[in-house]
Amino acid sequence: MDEEMKLKTKDLLTLNELDKSELLGMIDHAIRMKKDLKRGISKPLLKNKTLAMVFQKPSTRTRVSFETGAFQLGGHALNLSADELQLKRGETIEDTAKTLSRYVDLIMARVYSHEELELLAKNSPIPVINGLSDSFHPCQILADLMTIKEKKKKLSGLRLAWVGDGNNVCNSMIYGCAKVGINMSIATPKGYEPKHDVVKESTKLSEVKLSNNPETAVAEADIVVTDTFVSIHHQTTDRTNDFLPRFQVNTDLMKKANKSAIFMHCLPAKRGQEVTSDVIDGHQSVVWDEAENRLHVQKALMAALLGRL
Ligand code: CP
Ligand code: NVA
Repeated sequence: MDEEMKLKTKDLLTLNELDKSELLGMIDHAIRMKKDLKRGISKPLLKNKTLAMVFQKPSTRTRVSFETGAFQLGGHALNLSADELQLKRGETIEDTAKTLSRYVDLIMARVYSHEELELLAKNSPIPVINGLSDSFHPCQILADLMTIKEKKKKLSGLRLAWVGDGNNVCNSMIYGCAKVGINMSIATPKGYEPKHDVVKESTKLSEVKLSNNPETAVAEADIVVTDTFVSIHHQTTDRTNDFLPRFQVNTDLMKKANKSAIFMHCLPAKRGQEVTSDVIDGHQSVVWDEAENRLHVQKALMAALLGRL
């Protein structure tokens, strides 16, 4: 029998809002919900509830997994492109938040600026979920930790190597790993480090080693992770020359990690840049399970935020 779960936070914006037991509880719930779904069981945890999904930027996984998840739990999801809202014509984020909160029960937003997301959450009496901002991507890390737990049967004591850009996904990864006891080795080019305050806070809980050396970062790693060199909010700048060839995850680099290491990537991937096709399609890659787990863990998250888990 699942333990009832009452989160202390109203919103999920960075991942730092969840404490260790909430994080572990959410992952265990999601693993059980995934098994149940495969047996044809899905509880109507979102019955009569509506999720508004606001997108300022494109998405495949976030959009489809949230909409499908809401449907599977008996709820309803509205896909709202920011271009089609009055936001486009200058209505403020605060007024948008106050209006949406009168109609729906939950908001998930993908935005350019994290500060805008904070404004949205501050002006919404209902829960707000970050579907990716320029600074954080907490839902991705919930799915990643769930995937690691499924593959490795544990979390605490593992070593995760992050190779590439110290970006939004990396920032939430640091919070998540620190809370569950995964040690991190992060290799970025100079100037591409993750947020200093996130690293500083997280080193109080687990090891967070920063370097500019991919080879030493992956040594003894149980998990090797990378992400695009050019995030959506960076699309106008060419940064790839700062990363290539050294920060590419290829078979040579994977050989330097533990033999049983898994490879992860939040997707979308730029094959031939941050990762080669032989790695992402190879036997160590778990990227499709990782993508699938967005669905299961976000169902647990939505139910938990509404006090229905
Ligand atoms: N990983 C992820 O968030 O994918 P999308 O950009 O397709 O939503
Ligand atoms: N870091 C990437 C993640 C996409 C899911 C970006 O922000 O574009």
